Amino acid sequence: MSLASNAERVEKGHEDAVVSAVPTHVAIIMDGNGRWAAERSLSRTDGHRAGTENIRRILKSFAAHGVRYLTLYAFSTENWERPMEEVNALIEILQEMICEETRQLHEEGVRLLHIGRLDRLPSGIQKGIEDAIDLTKGNAGITVALAYDYGGRSELTNAIRSIVADGVRSSQIDEQLIGKYLYTAGMPDPDLIIRTAGEMRISNFLLWQAAYAEYYSTDVYWPDFDETEVDKAIAAYGQRRRKYGRVDGRVEGRADSIDG
Ligand code: IPE
Ligand code: IPE
Ligand code: MG
Repeated sequence: MSLASNAERVEKGHEDAVVSAVPTHVAIIMDGNGRWAAERSLSRTDGHRAGTENIRRILKSFAAHGVRYLTLYAFSTENWERPMEEVNALIEILQEMICEETRQLHEEGVRLLHIGRLDRLPSGIQKGIEDAIDLTKGNAGITVALAYDYGGRSELTNAIRSIVADGVRSSQIDEQLIGKYLYTAGMPDPDLIIRTAGEMRISNFLLWQAAYAEYYSTDVYWPDFDETEVDKAIAAYGQRRRKYGRVDGRVEGRADSIDG
């Protein structure tokens, strides 16, 4: 199946196309690989492999809904504190994913990005990521940002250091400027943040960018988060009323709702 956008599906007359409010940017905390494996008496590495394989099927599903940006939290700055064998396995899986998937994703028009630190990864992987970003940079399909060695606090610390190093005057610092110094510069803020495996916490993910994101948490473990679960999350988003701190979502003096 090609990664047809929702708009294309509507054009082609697919009646099942979702035409209600679709989030432009979905970000996912892909959690629960370990518990998924434990329930099956498998190793945690098996769980991580199953979780990685799941990325392919849900990517198609989000693209078909018309989502334009998908950010995937795959490894946090705190995940280095896991046992060495698990960290090594996660890095190996990342390497395999870059080698095996990049060409296919490129053919499907996917644009790849990375958010987080690159400098602590093995140099071969750094190069693999940079090459994948370069190869796909002109693609017009869904943008997939892999959050690997990503932490919101580390991102903000890094941004402040760069702002100081650039000699920016305090009077020039505003929210827009800070946004330009984040890993996500050029990307819209997430509209919907999904967390699998039931936890109700943010775990250092997109701390700045999530200011007005809608949250969706499900008990389903990440490897089991299939197309039906994608449909449910998108449908739940469609029922939300975003207000941005305003009364009933209306801007003072404007009769129309900001969500149209
Ligand atoms: C998410 O699954 C993957 C990473 C954080 C790398 P977990 O490994 O955290 O799975 P649980 O939370 O132990 O079930
Ligand atoms: C969040 O999951 C990070 C990723 C999914 C990569 P964790 O499993 O690391 O988060 P905590 O430890 O439950 O907060
Ligand atoms: Mg976890």
